[in-house]
Amino acid sequence: MTAPAAPTLKVAIVGVGTIGRGWAALTAASGWETTLYDTDVPAADRAVAEIGRRARALVALGRAVGETAEAGLRRVTLGRSLLQACRDADWVIESVPEDLHLKQRTFENLGQLVRAEAIVSSSSSGLPITETAARCRNQQRCVVVHPLNPPELIPLVEVVPGKFTSPAAVERVRGWLRSLGRIPILLKREVPGNAVGRIAAAVWRECIDLVLAGVMDVDDIDRAVSLGPGLGWAAAGPHLTYHLGAGDGGVNVFLQQLLQSFEVWWGSLAQWNRLEPEQVRALTAQIERAYGEKIDVLREVRDRRLAAILRAIEAARKAR
Ligand SMILES: NC(=O)c1ccc[n+]([C@@H]2O[C@H](COP(=O)([O-])OP(=O)(O)OC[C@H]3O[C@@H](n4cnc5c(N)ncnc54)[C@H](O)[C@@H]3O)[C@@H](O)[C@H]2O)c1
Repeated sequence: MTAPAAPTLKVAIVGVGTIGRGWAALTAASGWETTLYDTDVPAADRAVAEIGRRARALVALGRAVGETAEAGLRRVTLGRSLLQACRDADWVIESVPEDLHLKQRTFENLGQLVRAEAIVSSSSSGLPITETAARCRNQQRCVVVHPLNPPELIPLVEVVPGKFTSPAAVERVRGWLRSLGRIPILLKREVPGNAVGRIAAAVWRECIDLVLAGVMDVDDIDRAVSLGPGLGWAAAGPHLTYHLGAGDGGVNVFLQQLLQSFEVWWGSLAQWNRLEPEQVRALTAQIERAYGEKIDVLREVRDRRLAAILRAIEAARKAR
């Protein structure tokens, strides 16, 4: 369940597509004042309705309190300009498309119009803030705060400071994330794709390879991940899993017994870094065949499972 809100925080969300709407559903569901800005005016209008739906879905899933969410939704407004949306904000969350030049321009503009003490974060999946905020004023308050999709449901958030980000800005934003019920993890330096994206990309490349090589069908490989390592990793990450993998001897014995096998497997893993157009077509066709239902139906089922998994993990953590 989302933690009680910090009542005075004002958030501005710049770019209200998939991720911006998720951030807004989360901040609104926590009762925070949320202003939206998007250059696509019809999309921004549509976003308001979707943010309401997603914030209320959080309540239905037991992840937010109804009264707080309704109060927060009454405090969602649309900014007519970037200036109007951001000038009073304590925290500006940039969620425009993953395009370095667009983000650099956005940060340059934001630097000129937000309060000097406001935090300006980027939701970027992999662009370093050192480059994104290269031309931004007061760079010490700029930081990557990378959510997972859907941001309102998955608590893990990566915080990635740049060369100029101040430790005070990092601490402030981590505190705000915790009061939104998030679990912030800190990267000590910038790497392309941040940590979560790199891990996901490595696993997905192998999954795609197994599908395109005809070793497994899409639905079976998806089950292999979510009921195999994914299930174990939800309880204990890969290092703890292997530390527990060889009896009382721990990881030391595990490595003695299995490192050689791992080295053989590592040597045979997929290594490519681009897909040809016909491979993209083949992959798309196989995924669409495996999951025939409408996207919104599939998303609702996924979100219900996510909420149930989170409830179970939280209950188990409390019991420990
Ligand atoms: N989609 C994901 O799964 C995911 C997950 C985590 C992080 N991210 C990151 O979040 C960011 C946004 O991704 P998304 O998937 O929401 O993209 P999106 O295309 O769904 O939404 C981007 C929105 O930004 C708006 N926009 C474009 N230029 C703008 C500008 N100059 N000012 C204001 N608004 C502008 C667009 O109209 C659109 O509504 C990217 O950096 C992406 O890497 C995406």
